[in-house]
Parts: sequence; C-alpha cells; structure tokens
Amino acid sequence: MTRHFLRDDDLTQEEQTAILDLAERIKADRWGHKPLAGPQTVAVIFDKSSTRTRVSFAVGIADLGGVPLIISTANSQLGGKESPSDTARVLERQVAAIVWRTYGQAGLVEMASGTTVPVINALSDEFHPCQLLADLLTIREHKGRLAGLTVTFLGDGADNMVHSYLLAGATAGMHVRVACPADYSPDERVVADADAIAVQTGGSITIYTDAVEAMAGADVVVTDTWVSMGKEEEKAERVAALGGYKVDADMMALAKPDAIFLHCLPADRGYEVASEVIDGPQSVIWDEAENRLHAQKALLVWLLEQA
Ligand code: CP
Ligand code: NVA
Repeated sequence: MTRHFLRDDDLTQEEQTAILDLAERIKADRWGHKPLAGPQTVAVIFDKSSTRTRVSFAVGIADLGGVPLIISTANSQLGGKESPSDTARVLERQVAAIVWRTYGQAGLVEMASGTTVPVINALSDEFHPCQLLADLLTIREHKGRLAGLTVTFLGDGADNMVHSYLLAGATAGMHVRVACPADYSPDERVVADADAIAVQTGGSITIYTDAVEAMAGADVVVTDTWVSMGKEEEKAERVAALGGYKVDADMMALAKPDAIFLHCLPADRGYEVASEVIDGPQSVIWDEAENRLHAQKALLVWLLEQA
C-alpha cells in the first residue's frame, strides 16, 4: 500500500528508527543507493520560498539516480486553478513521488488521498516533518541516542516546527518541552496526539510559559523564527510577545553544560537567537542543514520500498 509522509506521526517508532538508520548508511555511502535509476522523476512543488528544502530534495533525488522536477505553484495550474487531487492524478502517471511545500495541511491530505505515489510534506503551516528527520539524525549523531533525552523549544509554540517536535519527539521517546506565551501555544489536538504517543514510548510532553523552568536540564535546545512564512504582517506584535524566549548565552547556560543547539534555519539573528549561540560551540546547525539531504534520501528510499 502506498505510504505518505504528511505529518511526523505517520511513522511508528520502529519505522522512524529504520529511516534514521538508513540515513546513517546513506550518509556513509552517498552514491551507493540508486532506486530512482531509469531515471525516474520526482515532482517537488513549492507554494512558499525555500533554500534548504529545494536544494536537498533536488540533490538527493539526483543522488538516488532520479530527476528532480522543481515546480513553482505560481507557474503551474495548482493553487486555485486546479485541485490537489486532480493534480495528483496527472502527476502519478509520470512521477515516482510528489513532494509539496504548501500552506494548509488539508491540501496535502487531499493530494495524498487519491494517488498511488507517495506524497511528502515539505512544510505546511502545521508541520515540518522532513526537518524533524534531519534534526533527529543530528541529535542522534551528537548524543548517541534519542529516547530519554530532554529537548526544549523556546519561542512561538504554535509554529510548524513545534508541532513536528511534539509528534516526532514523542515517537522517538524523548521528553519534549515547549516554552511559549499562552497566546502562542501549540494546537491542543497535536499536544493530545503527542501525549498519547509519549505514553507508548516512555517520552513526555510539557508546555511551559516560564522559559527558565523549561531550560533546566535540557540536552537539546531548539528555536525557530518568530515570524513564519505567511505571518510577516504580525512581526512587531510577535517580537513584543516573544522577546522573553530568545536563546542567548544566559538562556543557554540554564541547559546542561553539554547541551546542543538546533535551528532549522533561516534564522533571524538577534531575535529568536543571539549570534553568540548560533555561531557558538554548542550549535550544530550546519550538520542539521546537511542532514536534510541524507534524511530525505532515506525517506524516499523507504517510501518507495513500501509501495
Ligand atoms: N529549514 C528549511 O526548511 O529551510 P528552507 O525554507 O530554506 O527550505
Ligand atoms: N516556521 C518556519 C520554518 C521555515 C523553514 C516557517 O514556516 O516559515
């Protein structure tokens, strides 16, 4: 049966581990996996801007022996003119998989519901699951494990990265803490889903308003922009509301001494993170950005094997 990757809890803990293990093997043998030889084409569609996702999917698909077809919605019929399901019916006759960065999650669900090829969420307003595979791979490389680690996210709690950390972190058996103002809290349904997963895996989910409390004993510290794509007009009010959740050296010092710092990028230096942290010795952001490539190649290989 065709498998899709629309949100982080589309994978069980065993499946998530299998993909991360595969990513490690692919990273060690970059040119050794060619499931797209033919070459087969993968459609990679963007409704929003991207640097890392565009490059890592294009390079990864080429590494796997395939051809990336990068489509900008502005130059296609998708986006008001043609439905996601009709688009998928056209694409599935010609491509091996569909990767889509979009706004609402509902479009991805519609795209996936009627197609025979895997659909991958390359970021929606609600989730960024491909980024989480890269983040988990990076954490595992630096910490040697995932289960039992405490990861603290500071900032906009309603962010797509937070929702993905809640689901993917819980799936991995991590203790996921989110510190945010009450008005910027995560979606309660996602928190409930993550709680239910954490009960099974031995992880936990805790939402704080107090950043200092959330930082105590953290193994991994994460933040993301305060102004996600589509929220640009709210910048002033967001900066005012989220100022107390900035990751600077004083905040970082509250975590464990060997804590690592992650940021999916792009970063707004001086806002959610100080340069002293993002450029400092605890930061692993460049490994994290590179791991988008290896993690997504593993995801593609795995999804194509399930079909
Ligand atoms: N982290 C991330 O998804 O970056 P891009 O927006 O550049 O793809
Ligand atoms: N939360 C950010 C992530 C960018 C990769 C956004 O959606 O803009």
